Amino acid sequence: MKLQLWITGKNHYCQLRQWVARWEEHVTAQPQHDQWAAWLFQRRHGGDPELLRHHLEALAPTRDQVIANAALAPGHTVLDVGCGDGLIAFAAAEAVGLTGKVIFSDVSSELLERCRKLAAI
Ligand SMILES: C[S@@+](CC[C@H](N)C(=O)[O-])C[C@H]1O[C@@H](n2cnc3c(N)ncnc32)[C@H](O)[C@@H]1O
Repeated sequence: MKLQLWITGKNHYCQLRQWVARWEEHVTAQPQHDQWAAWLFQRRHGGDPELLRHHLEALAPTRDQVIANAALAPGHTVLDVGCGDGLIAFAAAEAVGLTGKVIFSDVSSELLERCRKLAAI
């Protein structure tokens, strides 16, 4: 939706109020993210997929070090509290294999839903 603001002469207050009303309608029609989902989905890379790829590549050594430090083995059970979009949890799932289990836990239902979708790919 394209929003335009016209302010002309004596009716400008009225037009401003109408514009605000249209803006509120526009904003409430958008999907709202909780603050952590908004950060992981959008804000940390400014909506730029190339920057997101760069971030994920930069995080990979840290992720691998976390997994190595946990000394995971096939069959282990892992609880990732604050799993976000699964950076650590999906790597843990590879380490524990089909006989193991990873429990994804997060305060954000949106992020858990994202993890469910990623797991299904
Ligand atoms: C900095 S992000 C890290 C996400 C992920 N672990 C990673 O390394 O990419 C912090 C995560 O913790 C979650 N979180 C914050 N407070 C929480 C709480 N009280 N219980 C569970 N998760 C929480 C947020 O929703 C967010 O996904």
